[in-house]
Amino acid sequence: MKLLEDKIKNEGRVIGTEVLKVDNFLNHQVDPALMAAMGEEFARLFENDNIDKVLTVESSGIAPAVFTALALHVPMVFARKKKSLTLVDDNYTADVYSFTKQETNHIIVDKRFISAGERILLIDDFLANGQAVEGMLQIADAAGAEVVGVGIVIEKTFQKGRAILDEKGIRVESLARIAAFEDGQVIFVN
Ligand code: G4P
Ligand code: NA
Ligand code: NA
Repeated sequence: MKLLEDKIKNEGRVIGTEVLKVDNFLNHQVDPALMAAMGEEFARLFENDNIDKVLTVESSGIAPAVFTALALHVPMVFARKKKSLTLVDDNYTADVYSFTKQETNHIIVDKRFISAGERILLIDDFLANGQAVEGMLQIADAAGAEVVGVGIVIEKTFQKGRAILDEKGIRVESLARIAAFEDGQVIFVN
């Protein structure tokens, strides 16, 4: 998506060889016009897939996910993060290890908000090691819901997340695909 790639080129900051800082439009300050355009693009990509619900993880997935849900005319649910588990009876949970932050979060969805047979679209801000998406897949699985596909704002193709999802045969649509960071510059796929 050209609008997003331009935004990354103009406002993203490369940290070392693995991390892109985009806290001026996605991870801290949010650009609503860009989020709306991305939501429409995800909705277009999945318009024939009879999506019932959009699922993401707090916090940075929420902005793109809510605009996607708006464009698809369906609800959006975000998994909550907790450092420790208390009462889990009425929730679906999964462990998500963050390589970036070197900590494990439990992600939690109330059983009332995801049901057997629902067709789910997963949305997230970054696809890096794929742990967040794997956690959401576990939750959908436990609920008996079907994950129809995954929409990612920024994919880093050099980390292992994409390969894990390809291996599972899951459809992944990324609005920007980054092949590498070289000398502080973003190298996009193609
Ligand atoms: P994953 O997202 O594929 O599971 O990979 P990883 O475990 O590496 O990601 C841990 C956290 O770091 C996630 O945010 C993810 O979105 C974020 N992240 C991964 N790579 C980058 C990057 O290059 N730039 C930025 N800005 N973030 C990256 P999180 O812990 O879920 O936090 P939140 O932002 O949703 O609160
Ligand atoms: Na993030
Ligand atoms: Na995220």
